Amino acid sequence: MEQTLVKEIEALKVKHNAVVLAHNYEPGPIQDLADFLGDSLALARWAQKSTAEVLVLAGVYFMAETASILCPDKTVLIPDSGAGCSLADTITPEQLISWKKQYPDATVVSYVNTSAAIKALSDYCCTSSNAVKVVESIDPDRDILFLPDFFLGSHVVRMTGRKNIHVWNGECHVHAAIENEDMVNKVRRHPGAELLVHPECGCTTRALAIPPKEATSRVLSTDGMLFYARTSPADTFVVATEVGLLHRLRKENPDKTFLAAHDDALCPFMNMISLEKIRDSLRYGRHPVKVASALRTKALIPLERMVAVG
Ligand code: 13P
Ligand code: SF4
Repeated sequence: MEQTLVKEIEALKVKHNAVVLAHNYEPGPIQDLADFLGDSLALARWAQKSTAEVLVLAGVYFMAETASILCPDKTVLIPDSGAGCSLADTITPEQLISWKKQYPDATVVSYVNTSAAIKALSDYCCTSSNAVKVVESIDPDRDILFLPDFFLGSHVVRMTGRKNIHVWNGECHVHAAIENEDMVNKVRRHPGAELLVHPECGCTTRALAIPPKEATSRVLSTDGMLFYARTSPADTFVVATEVGLLHRLRKENPDKTFLAAHDDALCPFMNMISLEKIRDSLRYGRHPVKVASALRTKALIPLERMVAVG
């Protein structure tokens, strides 16, 4: 069944001059057939570079919107338009407008996990792999409104030492549920393991407090974890992020052991995408994502800044 679906998808890709871009959290069979697999920043960059006419985003809605904003001449499809993001839903445009009124001179930095309407009200976007760099590129005397992820924002405050960053109180329910106890217990049961933590995790502060003689902790985006695991001499890693990433970590590093800090850290939205839905997306052109021109013009500015900061 899986092989038949893969063949059908391959044929439809050729027919429609399409490519499939998948996020690192997608289920294994989708990762394996993707033309490009990466973190949010890499997917945005790849969408911009691609010469295909149709981009199928195997990921969540804001990723498809981001591709549509960056590539207005391409057809962007998401195989399930209900694939949202609990983190992106933690702030509405009305809330951001009223927050900006409290700090009229502040620079707004939005994590890419936001709607196009929030991006349009922002000065910069960032992803987990470049949030620190983006904030460092902003005048140190300017107040910053960082949204929507509280844990990523706190990490940026810790790394930059800036006192003028105001952080929104949003969270991703998947990463917030990775608790200190789960992570510490896993690390203690595997002496010598390295700990890789995504900055959206509620356990980041606790992870960094683990003494180096017990475990080395690194706070990294999903692509950052992949790069680190390839180059580290360690052979065992405890990974605090969505468990879909383990597929790629294990595939790329067959001699190393990867353990989830929390085995149930599964994003229900990422897992709404299936091979059947990708096939039907290509077959029937469902579901197109097109950001309206006026909104796109505004949302493009912070996104281009994000891509340029690198
Ligand atoms: P990155 O892959 O950019 O680290 O993003 C994590 C995430 O939660 C995407 O929704
Ligand atoms: Fe959103 Fe969290 Fe799922 Fe990422 S893992 S898409 S932040 S709900």
